[in-house]
Amino acid sequence: MTKPTKTRRRILIGVGGGIAAYKVCSVIRHFTEAGHEVRVVPTPAALEFVGKATFEALSGHPVTTSVFDDVDEVAHVRLGQGADLVVIAPATADLMARAAQGRADDLLTASLLTVRCPVLFVPAMHTEMWEHPATQANVATLRSHGATVMTPASGRLTGTDSGRGRLPDPQEIALIGELLLDRPDSLPYDLAGVRVLISAGGTREPLDPVRYLGNHSSGKQGFALARAAAQRGASVTVVAGSTAGPGDPAGVEIVRIATARELAEEMTTRAAHADVVIMAAAVADFRPVSVADAKIKKGDAGPAPIELTTNPDILRGLVEARDEGRIPGETVIVGFAAETGDETGGVLDHGRAKLKRKGCDLLVVNAVGEGKAFGTEDNTGWLLSAEGAETALPYGSKTLMSSRILDEVRRLVPDSRGA
Ligand code: CTP
Repeated sequence: MTKPTKTRRRILIGVGGGIAAYKVCSVIRHFTEAGHEVRVVPTPAALEFVGKATFEALSGHPVTTSVFDDVDEVAHVRLGQGADLVVIAPATADLMARAAQGRADDLLTASLLTVRCPVLFVPAMHTEMWEHPATQANVATLRSHGATVMTPASGRLTGTDSGRGRLPDPQEIALIGELLLDRPDSLPYDLAGVRVLISAGGTREPLDPVRYLGNHSSGKQGFALARAAAQRGASVTVVAGSTAGPGDPAGVEIVRIATARELAEEMTTRAAHADVVIMAAAVADFRPVSVADAKIKKGDAGPAPIELTTNPDILRGLVEARDEGRIPGETVIVGFAAETGDETGGVLDHGRAKLKRKGCDLLVVNAVGEGKAFGTEDNTGWLLSAEGAETALPYGSKTLMSSRILDEVRRLVPDSRGA
């Protein structure tokens, strides 16, 4: 599967009147640096927070807030019809209320009524405003109109408050925006009420207080799955080992572990309360038999051999727990396989054998080596199901691949679990 070339797309960034408007400058920058054509339309209130000159310099285009400027060009129609993606950030409670009602009282809301492309709202407000029934009703209305409304992050808000309502990291917004450009239908709100447990990253097995046995996993694929599942409405927990990716996905609970045995403990306990369990972590198969209390010295005798013992197979253990009724029978279990192929078979042959051996419902097979899979932004592979289906996952971002994996997962989750 070959890597497709990226095309230049037209992105309309609508900026609402909230303090988080300053963070949107990084989102604008991301899209211009990725080679896209960006037009910025702030609301008049947004200009109380960030000056027009900043948006003009970052986008390279003039900025206005009113339909009565450039009337000869019918700006709202030109901007709306010409866009491949609209990102509204920060989406304030007031802006979402006006958009949900189909109002057209400034250039941004008027433009929203003329768009046919994916629209991404990125809310940012105080927790009380986000949780208010009026805001939640507006969010539901916007989703019913086909828009994607991102789950806000939790953390420090303006003033001394903290809680849900923080604007997700600009990089998260950009990743979701790129996903909608790649595949406009990739984030249906179809996992509301579904509890998803994901392991991500690599495990580290200590040798002494300063050294460990580890692997190259960046955790990007596990985080990408978490990102996509959370934006589809799932309540997501990630048990993460060592990672080297972007920041934590918005709206996701992260539990940190180091070793395979710690991962096994967290996954087995938490799987009892999950509807979907995805083992995307790269688990060390072996660990040193003993861990030295003090740093191992070079000494004169040269290196001592390291004696290893086998770690638990967590994925296999989860399937056995389900077979034995320790976790619910309808739990969907997904594994990953990173394969290179060898003289005994190709990547897919090894994947098929692994699916049987592990007994999970779905297995995502990646080819590794030569810069593929570990640490990269993009990925490709196959999705094998226990029912015998084999689906090629075309080359694309790890978030795009995740949305395709979640389509299959959604098919397997009993309808009674989703909202
Ligand atoms: N896995 C696990 N526990 C382990 C090793 C792997 O749960 N001790 C999970 C991984 O998270 C992944 C799947 O099993 O979902 C396959 O991992 P992989 O390393 O490809 O397979 P192994 O079981 O290690 O098999 P082999 O080394 O023979 O390829």
